[in-house]
Amino acid sequence: MWMFKAITVLYLSAAVATQDSGEALPVPRVHLQSQWSEIFPPEQVRLRCDVNGKDWTVIWYRDEQEIQTTDTSVILSEDAQNLTLKAEAQTQSGKYSCKGFHKSNASLSTQDSNALQITVHGQKLKPALSVSGDEQDVLVGQSVTFRCGIDVLSSWEYYWYLNDNTVHKSTVDVYTVQSAEEAHNGKYHCKVKRGGVFVSNDSNTVSVKVSDVPKPRVTLVSSWSDVIEKEQVLLRCETDGPDWSFTWFRGGEQLTESPNIKFSDDGGAQLIMSSVTKTLQGLYTCKAEHNANKTSDLDKATQSGSQFMTRPHPHCQRTLL
Ligand SMILES: *[C@@H]1O[C@H](CO)[C@@H](O)[C@H](O)[C@H]1NC(C)=O
Ligand SMILES: *[C@@H]1O[C@H](CO)[C@@H](O)[C@H](O)[C@H]1NC(C)=O
Ligand SMILES: *[C@@H]1O[C@H](CO)[C@@H](O)[C@H](O)[C@H]1NC(C)=O
Ligand SMILES: *[C@@H]1O[C@H](CO)[C@@H](O)[C@H](O)[C@H]1NC(C)=O
Repeated sequence: MWMFKAITVLYLSAAVATQDSGEALPVPRVHLQSQWSEIFPPEQVRLRCDVNGKDWTVIWYRDEQEIQTTDTSVILSEDAQNLTLKAEAQTQSGKYSCKGFHKSNASLSTQDSNALQITVHGQKLKPALSVSGDEQDVLVGQSVTFRCGIDVLSSWEYYWYLNDNTVHKSTVDVYTVQSAEEAHNGKYHCKVKRGGVFVSNDSNTVSVKVSDVPKPRVTLVSSWSDVIEKEQVLLRCETDGPDWSFTWFRGGEQLTESPNIKFSDDGGAQLIMSSVTKTLQGLYTCKAEHNANKTSDLDKATQSGSQFMTRPHPHCQRTLL
């Protein structure tokens, strides 16, 4: 059918050329009038078939098949030169071309136009929302980075929601909460827009829980709080979860390692006094700092706990309870 048309055109061109003293038949051109050749509901694509002169009616083709005027996803202007395509189904994708037929002689037609590839999606996009490092449980002061994944490149506008309220708009697919607070607790999702229209459904939801930095507790590991001189005393600074470093204090003064004082365990959670003397008595406190290297702000969130000190009694017997 197409071959036949092509042959007819060639034949007609020759005929017209001889008939109309060399006047060539026009070659129509299809132009994209709207911004994108890949569309999603509720977007539209607008195409124009430029054919010289007012003497031609236009017929449109998708993959070389004539587009029927009964197709409700297609709107034609009165002269049929403008075609508007509403995104409804993937089957509307294809190469669009046009051709002019002479108004007073339907067997006289132009050459074929160029063909434009149009991609139509029958469904809105579904973005994939993710959180960096799958870090859905964060501490106050830590940062949280979300990514709204769309596998189609375009000039998207990203909308970010917390509990269904817009919390951020961006032109990049990443949204970072620099320093998490209680108010950042909740369910997040994202959506994308372009040309002022949402072309995506809601993404999946990601729940983020922001917790206070836990207060460390100092506990006495060795048995008694009354200690005889030269005994070993173990203190522990306890926190929840991994990745902490600890600093120890006696009477508010920071402690460093000495022959009598050693720090052990991960991050120095344990304080070991191998042989206590009277000078070591006092109030011991510890400070815990989280090693979250993805944040710079967590320092201010560290806290300390306390514990009274053991008393060396050189010549007393300790009492068992
Ligand atoms: C066709 O589209 C062009 C460009 O968008 C516009 O200027 C023209 O008025 C349209 N013609 C009709 C008949 O709609
Ligand atoms: C229509 O055009 C064809 C090709 O130029 C020509 O052979 C034919 O005579 C024309 N018919 C009319 C009615 O003008
Ligand atoms: C988007 O939402 C519509 C309406 O709920 C649904 O029919 C469609 O399948 C969704 N699209 C995707 C890609 O999930
Ligand atoms: C963060 O810490 C991890 C493990 O401790 C390490 O592998 C990584 O290189 C650190 N990243 C930065 C940016 O310091």
